[in-house]
Amino acid sequence: MNEQEFIPSKYKTLLTSGTTTWRAPSNIALVKYWGKFQDQIPANPSISFTLSNAATTTSLEFERRENGNCKPSFDLLFEGKSKEEFRPKISTFFQRISKYLPFLKEYHLKIDTSNTFPHSSGIASSASGMAALALCLMDMEKRMNPSIAPDFLLKKASFLARLGSGSACRSISGPIVEWGQHKDLSDSSDLVGLPYGGKVHEVFEGYQDTILLVHKGEKIVSSTAGHDLMNNHPFAKPRFAQAHKNLSRLLTIFEKGDLPEFIEIVESEALTLHAMMMTSVPYFILMKPQTLTIIEKIWAYRKQSGVPLCFTLDAGANVHLLYPQKHTEKVLQFIKNELVVYCENGQYICDQVGGGSKKV
Ligand code: DP6
Repeated sequence: MNEQEFIPSKYKTLLTSGTTTWRAPSNIALVKYWGKFQDQIPANPSISFTLSNAATTTSLEFERRENGNCKPSFDLLFEGKSKEEFRPKISTFFQRISKYLPFLKEYHLKIDTSNTFPHSSGIASSASGMAALALCLMDMEKRMNPSIAPDFLLKKASFLARLGSGSACRSISGPIVEWGQHKDLSDSSDLVGLPYGGKVHEVFEGYQDTILLVHKGEKIVSSTAGHDLMNNHPFAKPRFAQAHKNLSRLLTIFEKGDLPEFIEIVESEALTLHAMMMTSVPYFILMKPQTLTIIEKIWAYRKQSGVPLCFTLDAGANVHLLYPQKHTEKVLQFIKNELVVYCENGQYICDQVGGGSKKV
């Protein structure tokens, strides 16, 4: 696979106007993407669970401009209101993808987007947001070129979403998505996220992710800035090698359903991600004291109850609790009894592994 295959040939017709709506879910990485090269190429492969309830729905209204052929022009609404602070990221996204969707400059776009999770919950909306927008744009392209096959539409949507935010390329399909070249994944690519096609044990069906909202404020260092700090990071090389190894181990775990091994890799990946932040120059910490307390409580609960509950973190203070569906009732009780006090305003989100994006 190379970038060339995503550059379209000339369109026969251009549409005058239209509208399309897509819903794309969030995802949680098990092996983490942290560090990237030019053009959003990941420094190591990653793999994630696609979520179900935490999602972005985006409607795109497009209208052909009389004086097209310049920069893409757009209005941006978030939950019905204009959202100026999102504009720069979307502008950069449009610049990066213009080569692959040359029709864009001919249109004025109205993007209307909303999330199922509370605004500023600390849940990254860039993955689901960029994925939903990329899908709308691909839907638009398909109307101008009906020969685009459904598989290719999803693949190119993932390719485009990656150019908006790396982890967004893993928010198109589900339930498990791989991204980045890896020796044990024959079709894997740095350019797109692909649904994992290997055997997966039934214990992972409907796997739960309860997200404890520990800190809902703005992050002190953005993911993009954090990725950059992996350049010249003293531990970058061993970290990238470790991610490759962990991914290999995880593939066997998926097949065998070995939960103690699953827990070991997932928690180690989360802590390594944050260890990379703490050993960057300049260093930074995104966890909060509550994050650590929750982790200790999870470890104690697991030991005492035998429930195979583990945690993972993304680039923030919130804690994702991962566990098999059959333990849902017990774990929710544990959360209510012991963890909810560490959540900001007592808030948490119940989610589970899901099937991927959908046209609305
Ligand atoms: C810690 O995808 O948000 O969640 O490509 O710069 O937009 P950009 O970064 P982003 O990084 C996500 C990092 C992570 C780990 C992961 O999802 O794999």
